[in-house]
Amino acid sequence: MTLKERKRHTEWFLDFAGRCCAADEAACGCGLNARQREISAGLPLERARAAHRASGSGELDFRPDVVKKVGARSILAAQDFENMSLKVEHTFYVLDNALELARAVPDAFPDMERVCFLAALYHDIGRFPQYMRYATFQDAQSVNHGFLGSKIMGGPGPLREETPFVRGLARAAVCLHNKFTLPRALPPALSLVTGILRDADKLDIFRVVSAYTRPGGKRNSVVTKNLEDEPMRWTPGFVDAVLSRRPANARSARYLNDFCLLLCSWIPTFNIPHSRTILLQSGLVRTILADLPDAPEMDAVRRTVEAALQW
Ligand SMILES: [Fe+2]
Repeated sequence: MTLKERKRHTEWFLDFAGRCCAADEAACGCGLNARQREISAGLPLERARAAHRASGSGELDFRPDVVKKVGARSILAAQDFENMSLKVEHTFYVLDNALELARAVPDAFPDMERVCFLAALYHDIGRFPQYMRYATFQDAQSVNHGFLGSKIMGGPGPLREETPFVRGLARAAVCLHNKFTLPRALPPALSLVTGILRDADKLDIFRVVSAYTRPGGKRNSVVTKNLEDEPMRWTPGFVDAVLSRRPANARSARYLNDFCLLLCSWIPTFNIPHSRTILLQSGLVRTILADLPDAPEMDAVRRTVEAALQW
């Protein structure tokens, strides 16, 4: 993929996110069906419009061509803009991770790095309309953001100049990136790209989540899904998942410690061995382990995770 092509895709992504932050109706409703548009409250949209009306700035002016960078024309409340920005930032970290992982499995099939670039850049594109319409990143309370992202990628948008092979693989990987478990028999190329994308995504979730779970640190209830900040409490099922080396189910999380244990439970499930190297180098997992409460159960978690990191 040429630098020019990368730049074009990056600009498309930033423009789309920027239009959502500017409350552009078409971008905020992109990919949603009529029923979803009807039932979604559009809270950040409403907050933004109310603030804009109150400021006396007149009618909103939605012109995609002038929204070149996310935030340049944002009319969102500060908290909403922070949440949208987190996803923009996350995207570029995931992109870096995905390209590093793709280089760790070179020449698996033609155009693999290209597909990984596109899948990573657009993997959370559905997050922007999702948040603008529903004020949450929880799929169960809104829409499946992976499926929504795949629909946006299939529209008259960013992938129209790609070959059907590249477009199909990138869209399918985005659709699968947030599934709890994957279908068993995926074509090898799709399995590889999806594996890279899921690892790249999870690696950056360590960074995002650990910024909001440190004892006494800053908090963001949208990122940590309204989990209870009870430093000495956790849900036993999350410890069981880590100790038995299987991924915990995020839906049963109740405490912030559960979120940290959820991250720990992912480590044995990485698809690409190099993912463990990236995670170790980041230092994040050791910080998370050190921050877990002082308790025999957590010592067992620490030992299991350290062993999983050495695989
Ligand atoms: Fe995602």
